[in-house]
Amino acid sequence: MTTQNLDWANLGFAVRETHGVLVSHFKDGQWTAPERITGAMELSPYALALNYASSCFEGLKAFRGADGVVRIFRPDENARRLRRSAEFLDMPAPSEEMFVEMCAEYVRWNIDFLPPYGYNASMYLRPVLIGTDKQLNLKSPVEATFLVCGIPAGSYSGAQALTPVTAVISRDFDRAAPNGTGSYKLAANYAPSFHAYNVAHALGFQELLFLDPATKTKIDEFGSSNFFGIKGGTYVTPLSDSVLPSITNKSLQAVAQDFGLTVEKRVIPYEELETFEEVNACGTAVVITPIGSITDKPTLKGNEVTRVFHFGEEGVCGPVSSRLYKTLRGIQDGTVPDTHGWCYIVK
Ligand SMILES: Cc1ncc(COP(=O)(O)O)c(C=O)c1O
Repeated sequence: MTTQNLDWANLGFAVRETHGVLVSHFKDGQWTAPERITGAMELSPYALALNYASSCFEGLKAFRGADGVVRIFRPDENARRLRRSAEFLDMPAPSEEMFVEMCAEYVRWNIDFLPPYGYNASMYLRPVLIGTDKQLNLKSPVEATFLVCGIPAGSYSGAQALTPVTAVISRDFDRAAPNGTGSYKLAANYAPSFHAYNVAHALGFQELLFLDPATKTKIDEFGSSNFFGIKGGTYVTPLSDSVLPSITNKSLQAVAQDFGLTVEKRVIPYEELETFEEVNACGTAVVITPIGSITDKPTLKGNEVTRVFHFGEEGVCGPVSSRLYKTLRGIQDGTVPDTHGWCYIVK
């Protein structure tokens, strides 16, 4: 593979193959030394991951800084979250050190695919853990493959950073079940929400907001990002067992505290939506996506609209959110001091 034809300014989020994938296998109680695989990877048709979704994954980014330094943002956090997902699935998991080292090794190997500074682009890393036992019995894996692949990535949707989008509430499709898997990053959480996303997109909405699955009275999160709202000097984000603990959200909360904002992680009743000055979706892909409006409908596919909430000035990201975004992106790019020690330097 070569980087010759890459247009760094317009990468989007498409899969462009890099030099390959780094792979380690767990068998007989230990992990093999990571191997570089170019081209296709073998997987038995009987593998647990294919048949029963014994699979979890992570998403994190490497950046080439303004100072030329290569940084991975908080890989230790992703390592811990993957271990937590694997524990839920009762399957073997790489140690934190192995996870971080394989991410760093992947970046070193594919360094020519790491976008230059100045394009608001990065390398998106995708570590994946799958159960590989050849087995059709309903049993958790004792054999596994851990791999790290990645893509040079620009903006997720192709949109300019901080462009507000529209969201719709999903009342008749749930992302997570009460006491279910919503707070784990399992592959099995994603395919079931694609249909609702497709419906929302076809209706012209970019984001889908889920309420708590048990009572539909509290704010949970967007399909692949957390919710936070700003009002009166306070950063408010949902406390819920069914949302994924976002590393971006955790980082933004710390930055907000650095700014002197009060951070509240608590239940957010649906009625409170109208009181927010700024609302955002946050996650690794774009850090912050400002939400311009949220439409509520009894059913996603029906024509009836119950309410529309509007946030901030039309077409503009709110001032607090914008400042949070710039600070976090600055830390990732090495232009703002990393006072929390979040960045892992790839040498
Ligand atoms: C359901 C869900 N919520 C939130 C997030 C944001 O998490 P993070 O900030 O760790 O990327 C993601 C993306 O990883 C996600 O898939």
